Amino acid sequence: MPEAATPLAALLAELETFGQQNDAVVTDRPRRMLNVTRDTGEFLAVLVKAMRARRVLEIGTSNGYSTLWLASAARAIGGTVTTVERAELKVGMARANFARSGLADVITLVHDDAGGVLKRTGDAGIDLLFLDSERPEYPGWWPDLRRVLRSGGLLVVDNATSHPEQMAPFVALVTTDPTFTTSLVPVGNGEFLAVKA
Ligand SMILES: C[S@@+](CC[C@H](N)C(=O)[O-])C[C@H]1O[C@@H](n2cnc3c(N)ncnc32)[C@H](O)[C@@H]1O
Repeated sequence: MPEAATPLAALLAELETFGQQNDAVVTDRPRRMLNVTRDTGEFLAVLVKAMRARRVLEIGTSNGYSTLWLASAARAIGGTVTTVERAELKVGMARANFARSGLADVITLVHDDAGGVLKRTGDAGIDLLFLDSERPEYPGWWPDLRRVLRSGGLLVVDNATSHPEQMAPFVALVTTDPTFTTSLVPVGNGEFLAVKA
């Protein structure tokens, strides 16, 4: 018989403690969790519900903390989340957390490089795309990021205020694209938002 799911609030609190304690002592980047802040998780859930984003794509799963916020909101409105992670260690951790959450049925975990996944993703099928990966890669992904979003779709990018220099080339690309309207929201590590016309 499958084990009962851990209540989501308890699992999120456990992952917050784990991520903070782990990242306080671990310096090796691949073994850091680098989770979004709780207020960013709450913000993502509000965005999913407010725009009734049923098709959510996340780039950068880590151990699945932000995915759980997205998936909980997506389930409430009949949606699903696809999340992409290339590191085997993180995929294993995320898979275990999704199983514990009881949300695994609305999450598709893709173990692959996000650049390739984006290339294989169809045009205009994504309602909300959450980007939380290696920032120097974002400018090269921009043609596919803008292509996969539907008209009215929303791009949300983490670390816009915590790492402004690394984000600058990508922000410049998006803000000068006349198809997008942008805003910098001071939640957590700073969320850069871009909505497609
Ligand atoms: C900042 S962490 C994601 C944190 C997660 N969103 C959360 O809040 O719980 C970034 C993750 O992106 C993954 N990553 C980096 N480059 C990637 C790529 N090209 N394709 C897929 N995953 C990638 C890393 O392995 C890492 O786990």
